[in-house]
Amino acid sequence: MNRSIDWNPALERLPFSPIRRMFNTAATMTDVLHLSIGQPDFPTPPHIIEAHVKALREGRTRYELDAGLPQLRDAVAKLYNRLYDIRLEPENVLITTGCCQAMYMAIHAAVRPGMEVIVVEPVFVFLHVIEQAGGVPVRIMTTAKEGYQVDPQKVIAAMSDRTCAIMINSPGNPTGSVYPKETITAICREADRRGIAIISDEVYDRLILDEDVPYASALKHAPSLDHLIMTSSCSKTYSMAGLRLGWAISSKQNIEALQRLHMFISTTENTATQYAALEAVTGPQDCVGTMVKEYRRRRDRIVQLVSKTPHMTGYSPGGAFFIMPSLPSAADSFDVAMRLLKEARVCTIPGGAFGTSCNNALRISFATSMETIEAAFERMQQWLARQSF
Ligand SMILES: Cc1ncc(COP(=O)(O)O)c(C=O)c1O
Repeated sequence: MNRSIDWNPALERLPFSPIRRMFNTAATMTDVLHLSIGQPDFPTPPHIIEAHVKALREGRTRYELDAGLPQLRDAVAKLYNRLYDIRLEPENVLITTGCCQAMYMAIHAAVRPGMEVIVVEPVFVFLHVIEQAGGVPVRIMTTAKEGYQVDPQKVIAAMSDRTCAIMINSPGNPTGSVYPKETITAICREADRRGIAIISDEVYDRLILDEDVPYASALKHAPSLDHLIMTSSCSKTYSMAGLRLGWAISSKQNIEALQRLHMFISTTENTATQYAALEAVTGPQDCVGTMVKEYRRRRDRIVQLVSKTPHMTGYSPGGAFFIMPSLPSAADSFDVAMRLLKEARVCTIPGGAFGTSCNNALRISFATSMETIEAAFERMQQWLARQSF
C-alpha cells in the first residue's frame, strides 16, 4: 500500500528545486565559495531593525486589517508616486508576505485553466506556479549574447485569444537584465488593448546598476492599472528578505478581488514586520544607494572576469545581483554546475533550472563579497580551462 498521502496531482507536478539540490550538496562539503546566493549580503539597516523591535515592544502583535496596515499601504503608494510621478492611492496596494506571495496570488487569480501564459525564458520559479494553476506557458526565448533582452514584437506576436496573462520580470532573476521603456510600453499597451493580464514582478526595481537610465516600471508605462498586477517587496531593496514583507499593486477593483484570495492564504501579514517596512519605505533611503553602489562595483568587476573566463559568453546586467553567462551549446548546466562544485568548490546555479533553452548557462550571483568573487573566479577559470565542450 502507498504509505504517503495520495496527493493532489497539482502538487505532484511541482518539481524539487535544482537550486536546493546545489545548496544541499554544498552543505555537505567544506571550503565552498558561493556564487549562488539569491539575497542581499548586507545587514538590514539598523533603523529598520529598531522599528521592528519597537513595534514588538509596543505590543504590535495583533491581527491587522487584511489588506495591510493603512499607513503602510499609503506609504507604498506614495513611494511609487514619488519615484514614477504617478497617482496611486492606498487602495491600490495589497500588503503580502513578500513578493512570492503576491506572485502566487496574482498567478492563481489571473491564470485561467487551459489558457496560455506568455513567459520570457530564462524564467524564475513562478513558471511552476503557472502550471500548477492550470496555465499553459508559452515561452519566448532570449540569449546571453543579446543580454537576455526580449523583443517585444515576439511577445506581441505570441498573444492570441487563448492568452490570459503575460509574466514579465525586469530586472530579472536569473539574468539581471533590465528592459528598456520601449519594451515595457509596447508589451503593456498591447496587453491592455486586448484585455490580457500583465503580471510584472519588480522585486529588484530599486537595484538598478546603470546610472542615468531611469527604471522602466510597468506601473509608469502601462496605459492603466486595469490589466496590470505589479509585485515587489522590501526583501532586496532593504536587505530584509527574512522579514517577508511585500505587496501587489493594481486597480482598486483588482485589489479587492485579490483580497478574497489573500484572506485564505495569510489573512493578514506579520504586524510588527509591517512597522519595520513602514520605516524602510518612509525612513532614510541612503542605505539603498549605498548597497546599489557596491553591487555596481561588483557587477563591473564580474563583467570583466566573465570576459576572461574560458568558454563563457557574458554581457552587462543592468540590475539585480545576477549574471547568467552561457557556455558552448553542448554544455549541460546541471552536470557542469555539479562538477564545478565538487571539483573546484564553487557553487553556482545551473541555467537549466530556468528553462531548457538556457541549459548551457550558469547563474552567478554577486550578492557576496569582492574577495569571494575574485577567489571563486580564479578557481572557476582554472577549472573551465581544462574542460572541452
Ligand atoms: C524574481 C523574484 N521574484 C520574487 C522573489 C521573492 O521575493 P520575496 O523575498 O519578496 O518573496 C524573488 C526572490 O529571490 C525573485 O528573485
